[in-house]
Amino acid sequence: MANEKITQIVANALEKIKASSIADELVELKNTFLGKKSELSSMTSLIGTLPNEEKKSFGAAIHEAKEKISVEIEKKLAIFREKELNEKLAKESIDISLPGKDAHVGARNPFHVIIDEITDIFLGMGFEVAKGPEIESDLYNFELLNLPKDHPARDMQDTFYIDANTLLRTHTSPVQARTMEAKKGEPVRIICPGKTYRRDDDDATHSHQFAQVEGLVIDKDINIGHLKATLELFAKKMFGEKREIRLRSSFFPFTEPSVEVDITCANCGGKGCNICKGTGYIEILGGGMVHPNVLKMNGYDPDKYSGFAFGIGIERVAMLRYGIDDIRKFYTNDVRFIHQFGKKN
Ligand code: PHE
Repeated sequence: MANEKITQIVANALEKIKASSIADELVELKNTFLGKKSELSSMTSLIGTLPNEEKKSFGAAIHEAKEKISVEIEKKLAIFREKELNEKLAKESIDISLPGKDAHVGARNPFHVIIDEITDIFLGMGFEVAKGPEIESDLYNFELLNLPKDHPARDMQDTFYIDANTLLRTHTSPVQARTMEAKKGEPVRIICPGKTYRRDDDDATHSHQFAQVEGLVIDKDINIGHLKATLELFAKKMFGEKREIRLRSSFFPFTEPSVEVDITCANCGGKGCNICKGTGYIEILGGGMVHPNVLKMNGYDPDKYSGFAFGIGIERVAMLRYGIDDIRKFYTNDVRFIHQFGKKN
């Protein structure tokens, strides 16, 4: 009689387990059929009322029934859990065949790229990088460079004055005087890349703000051959091995003799074309041998020391190198212009 009841409970339970469709239902069935208040559990309390010889087999039957139900519930729960997991994985899967989002990578302004390139070339020749202020005094910008007050050559550099003695430097040459002052008569081999300012009409080749790389070498027995060789090496590294340079005589108050340096035109190789205006050459910088007055004023004995100096127009070099047709493009921050240099950097 009691065993029959147990069989019935098990059958009922198995049927319900079979019919269940979600894990929650099974958890409930577990409670109903195996919990403290389940029929099987309450039947356990009947054991005491049974004759001794039946007690053992009745207890075993209840245990077996519970075991059977429990196993079935766990089996089905495992199925549900696996299904749930698979569904979750399917939902969360990433389609790696889809194209990714493009990372937005900016580009450096060619102005900075070219400064780094020029600097690298001169570092390779043993130069150090020197710095100086953009707001400069009349003393360093002009006087210590052999340009006394009222010297007519000051007209070559139309200057932004802040007050009578303070100005925006018109060239990087004041760094020559500052370096000589700092080196106190020791040999010098520096470059100084930096911004410079002149009152100027803004057009395709002029800007009130531009930049130069100053170069200065002072030592014993320095001659113009050193200047030429240094600039030739620079021109070839910057513009290609085939480039030749040419020195033309010129005038700067702080160098004597002074030269303008041209490179052969890349477009025609020196034959003459519309880019070099038929001359075969393009001017890239000014330079010369440091004037004895400049050496003297800055603490060097011109009988013992000599030197050369040069000033390279940075935008000029970048324009020739990259085929840029307007200097203002460096300063207007048009991203369409700057992005063209992204891949090369
Ligand atoms: N400072 C000169 C200029 O701005 C260039 C220069 C530098 C010339 C050094 C000679 C020596 O035009």
